Amino acid sequence: MTSDKTANGSGSDVELAYTLQGPQSGSPIILLHGFPLDRTMWKAQTDALVAAGHRVLRPDLRGHGLSPVRTQAATMDRMAQDVVRLADQLGFDRFLLGGFSMGGYVALQLYATRPQRVRGLLLVDTRAEPDAPEAQTKRRGMADQVRSRGLEVLVEAMVPRFFTPRTRALQSTLLVDVENVIRKTPREGAVQALLGMAERSDQRVLLPRVHVPTLIVVGAQDELTPPAASHAMAKGIDGAVLNVLPGAAHLTPVEAPDAVNSAMFRWLTMPTTRTALA
Ligand code: MLT
Repeated sequence: MTSDKTANGSGSDVELAYTLQGPQSGSPIILLHGFPLDRTMWKAQTDALVAAGHRVLRPDLRGHGLSPVRTQAATMDRMAQDVVRLADQLGFDRFLLGGFSMGGYVALQLYATRPQRVRGLLLVDTRAEPDAPEAQTKRRGMADQVRSRGLEVLVEAMVPRFFTPRTRALQSTLLVDVENVIRKTPREGAVQALLGMAERSDQRVLLPRVHVPTLIVVGAQDELTPPAASHAMAKGIDGAVLNVLPGAAHLTPVEAPDAVNSAMFRWLTMPTTRTALA
């Protein structure tokens, strides 16, 4: 079953657009996209999960895709609250939660504030540490550039780093598809997400408090959220499993969908810890 619509969350000031697929009886999984992308980046994973009987919810985070834009910093907490409201509205009480890059920042924030809602974490090409002061300055500068020049700034800055040189040479349609998604991102949405990411919290303090099955995936050639950041998260989370994917860069769910899918299905069979069951 597929439904594409805009949620009408009571009490929520942001109605996230989303896609919900899979049988009502399937175990709920929420997948959060990265910056400045939308829910379509999870298509290969969703297809595989739905075929296996899971119920998959893919929202567009605020300011991205078809979701509304707000003229206030899209902090990770605001984005996490939007997701929780949508989950409430759809009756997703406890769910598995996956996040790619910025979506991973949001997933960690959601776990930090509502650990009881999350049955497992899938952290793909992301990191727990906040922006250092220089990175914050760079990000705010990027927000100014996007404001004045538009999304083309991000197409130029990010797409070459999403994929390995080999993929860029051999699979140009992947690049074109992703560029088109970026160009559709509302300018103000991208600006506010940059400002929100610049002020995100240090989630390294959260890692010892993560007590759900956690899978961490990273492309071996990821320059945006390098493997070292994933190794650090894996070290910090008790029982976490780390998969480093050779021949892949940042946007692994699109560049290496089969490898990400295999890792994801292993995550689904990871035993829950005693604390998670408690
Ligand atoms: C993303 O892919 O979501 C971004 O690279 C995250 C970031 O800029 O920190």
